[in-house]
Order: sequence, then C-alpha cells, then structure tokens
Amino acid sequence: MINKSHILLAEKNIRPFFERDHSGHDWDHIQRVRRTALFLCEKEGCSNFYTVDLIALLHDAGDVKLHPDENKAEQALKDAVLSIGLSGQLYEDIITAVQSVSFNGGNEKPLPSLEAAIVRDADRLDAIGAIGIARAFAYGGAKGAKLYDKDVMVRQTMSEKEYRAAPAATINHFYEKLFKIKDLMVTEAGKKEAIKRHKVMKSFVEQFLIEWKGQG
Ligand code: ADP
Ligand code: NI
Repeated sequence: MINKSHILLAEKNIRPFFERDHSGHDWDHIQRVRRTALFLCEKEGCSNFYTVDLIALLHDAGDVKLHPDENKAEQALKDAVLSIGLSGQLYEDIITAVQSVSFNGGNEKPLPSLEAAIVRDADRLDAIGAIGIARAFAYGGAKGAKLYDKDVMVRQTMSEKEYRAAPAATINHFYEKLFKIKDLMVTEAGKKEAIKRHKVMKSFVEQFLIEWKGQG
C-alpha cells in the first residue's frame, strides 16, 4: 500500500526537477493536478487517496517533452519510483499507471485503474477553463506566438513536434486541442467539471473575437 511517507519522499525527490521547468509543467501544475485528482477521487468514491496522490505527483516525471534526451525520460520515471523505495508489483503498478496518464500525442496507453483515470482527467482539466486559458497564453508568449491570427486558424501541415516548438497563434490552440478535451474525459466527475471549464473557455474565445473585430 502507498502511504504518507511515500508521498513525502516523492515530494522531496521530485520537486527540484519541476522547479526548473518552463514548458507548462512546473511544480504549480503538479500541485494543481494533485488537488484536482483528490477532488475527483472523493467524487468518484475512490478510497486510495495516497495512490492517486502519488500518481499525480509523478505524472509528468517520465514525459519526453521534459527531457532534453527523450531516451532518458522513461528511466527518469523509473529512478523516481525506485527513489521512494517501491519495488516489485507496487513499482510496476505505479509505472504503468503514470505511463497511461500522459497525452503522448494521442498514442496513449490503456488505463489500468480508476486511480490512473482520475489523474489523467485531472491533468486534462488543468489544460482547460480559466487555468487552461492562462497556461495557453503563457506558453504562446514564451514561444513568441501571436495572440491570434485569422489566417492560421487551421493547423498548417506540420508535425506535433514542430507545432509545439513554434506555434503561430494561441487562439489556434483552443481549436486544435483545448475545445476537444471535454470529450476525452473518462470519469463522471471529470466530465462534469470539464463541461463547466469548457463553457468558460468558449465564452472567453467568443468575447475575444468580438473585441478583436472592434465590436462592443
Ligand atoms: P500535457 O503534456 O499536460 O498534455 P502539453 O505539454 O501539451 O500538455 O501542454 C502544456 C500546456 O501548454 C497546456 O496548458 C497547453 O494548453 C499549453 N500548450 C501546449 N501547446 C500549446 C500551443 N501550441 N499554444 C498554446 N498553448 C500550448
Ligand atoms: Ni501534466
């Protein structure tokens, strides 16, 4: 069983890595995903709080986007799980759960448990709603994207990697990805929350376009 001392150790070991991140996966993101995952956990009647919390804490540790050498990403996750003293079946289960959470350009692995589904939903919820809007513009700003460009509303013929590296305009990203997220939710509680956050984004973009055209 995962217990509180695993969580404390994971926090201590993982935090320095995420304090350095500037790709939208900083320590605050990890903390929000943990809180949202625990909120969903309660709503779903899931009693394995510590397991959910640990998967949330580790959910981005093996993400290829966060490692300059993509081949080292998987090992980084394994090292993190080993560093908190897990071995055997528990070690395997946590690795499998974390690997199923990541977006992976749409090629995600099947979800092995309710706990993993909860964290995947919590991670996706952090990309939409008010926080999602803020993250999208922070990301776009960091990459030099324009706020909006009516000529790039449809993704040009570029790979996911190129699109991530040099996005042209941030409003584009809402149509490419963020408006699709509510239909990808797995848990009932996640779906309910996603519908609320989706509405916030929709009305934001609607108002943005009205103002862009100079209308009141
Ligand atoms: P995850 O790995 O959690 O699925 P991503 O790495 O795709 O998320 O994105 C991290 C954050 O950066 C998200 O909030 C996402 O909306 C934002 N983001 C990613 N790509 C773009 C983009 N081209 N334009 C604006 N925001 C982006
Ligand atoms: Ni994440």
